[in-house]
Amino acid sequence: MPPDPASPILLFDSGVGGLTVYDALRKLLPDAPVIYAADLAGLPYGSKTEAQIAARVAGLLGRMAERWQPRLACIACNTASTIALGMVREVLEIPIVGTVPAIKPAAALTRSGTIGLVGTEATIRQAYVDDLEARFAADKRLLRIAAPELVGAAEAKLRGRTVDPALIAAVKARLLAMPGAEGLDVLVLACTHFPLLGEELTAAFGPNVTQIDGATGIARRIAALTQGQGFARTGPDRFIVTGPLAGAAGLEAALAARGFASAEAF
Ligand code: DGL
Repeated sequence: MPPDPASPILLFDSGVGGLTVYDALRKLLPDAPVIYAADLAGLPYGSKTEAQIAARVAGLLGRMAERWQPRLACIACNTASTIALGMVREVLEIPIVGTVPAIKPAAALTRSGTIGLVGTEATIRQAYVDDLEARFAADKRLLRIAAPELVGAAEAKLRGRTVDPALIAAVKARLLAMPGAEGLDVLVLACTHFPLLGEELTAAFGPNVTQIDGATGIARRIAALTQGQGFARTGPDRFIVTGPLAGAAGLEAALAARGFASAEAF
């Protein structure tokens, strides 16, 4: 049976990072009802253990799916996807789209053969990433670094605060200090928060380093999986946060610009 046209697509992240997926999805499916859920009470995921992240993401998505009956859920977070995608697929009956580091397109793009991958501490140590590297970039040099400070910077930027260029410069310096980093020409933004800092990253890395993320590919995947389904939006999209609603303070302009209603608590 086709889903109810009002049944939403659920986008889930620890914070505002998944809005990069939301923006890409909006362009492809302008009429799709979306509920965006930010687990601000659990942010940041990157410093948590695999067990903590898996339990939290599977538990929350289960409760959210029960409450909102989405037609599809997207884990718009590399950390949660590389750890919990399989588990969530086992417990939910709807299609689940994950977000995994764009290593395959990066490998196709690099000319020097040296790729940087910036993610959270948890993402860069995942076997899932080892596997992507082995399958798609075995003949390339993939340099991984954790940059949890960029998650906070992206959260702050969306709340109207300026990003300190020194923060980005320090990430760049750490990456380029790694053995074999000279010639690096592609940067995989392996955290959905990081494309929100695209301008700042371009200012630091310059135009010769191509930044690549998964947002457009994920949006295409969601569009393919919902092809032929009817969509009816009955109002503005909903932006839900776990924890106190005060966590969303400062996001009003970013939400209004995207056409969301005021934030709600889960
Ligand atoms: N946005 C998330 C990701 O893609 C993680 C941010 C965090 O909670 O540490 O990895």
